Amino acid sequence: MKIALTGTPGVGKSKVADLLEKMGYKVLRLEKITDNFVIGYDKRRQSKIVDEELMDEYIKRIREKGLLIIEGHLSHLLSVDGVILLRCHPNELKKRLRKKRWNEKKIKENLEAEALDIILERALERHEKIWEIDTTGKSVEEVVSEIEKILKEMPPPYYGKIDYSNWLMR
Ligand SMILES: Nc1ncnc2c1ncn2[C@@H]1O[C@H](COP(=O)(O)OP(=O)(O)OP(=O)(O)O)[C@@H](O)[C@H]1O
Ligand SMILES: [Mg+2]
Repeated sequence: MKIALTGTPGVGKSKVADLLEKMGYKVLRLEKITDNFVIGYDKRRQSKIVDEELMDEYIKRIREKGLLIIEGHLSHLLSVDGVILLRCHPNELKKRLRKKRWNEKKIKENLEAEALDIILERALERHEKIWEIDTTGKSVEEVVSEIEKILKEMPPPYYGKIDYSNWLMR
């Protein structure tokens, strides 16, 4: 079974994946393989353009008997059996992105994307089994324990309850 761990940059996917890995979960970091699927560079957005279909072909070929967590901000575009979507309030996300030394323009772009539910919207184009976790004010450990619960119990999907749209009106 393959489960995507996705979210806007800075929500904490990698930190959460680090802990999951330490606990023994098998994790595939998309960051490590995306360079094989880059077809260009978007200067305005300062980001690589990835051939999503080609990357998905690669993922589809992975035969996984156990559980494989696929971590990365494009993982919801792939052929996975479920999507865990990490969310973070823009005010806190700003702090996390500054800690990562992102420039202000890119920070603003990502805070807006988070407030507009962009990743959820894109994930819904492909998947129904989505679990959305609000990481705001939580520790990495708390987020991981919520993820473990999902992985163990496979509850019905939950998403769409998180609403940061007020932030846009600030
Ligand atoms: N509850 C939390 N879960 C995850 N990260 C958190 C949490 N609280 C604070 N953080 C901090 O937020 C930052 C998240 O950074 P991280 O690199 O994990 O994000 P990311 O989602 O992998 O971003 P990118 O898409 O750029 O790789 C880290 O500095 C981490 O310590
Ligand atoms: Mg990361």
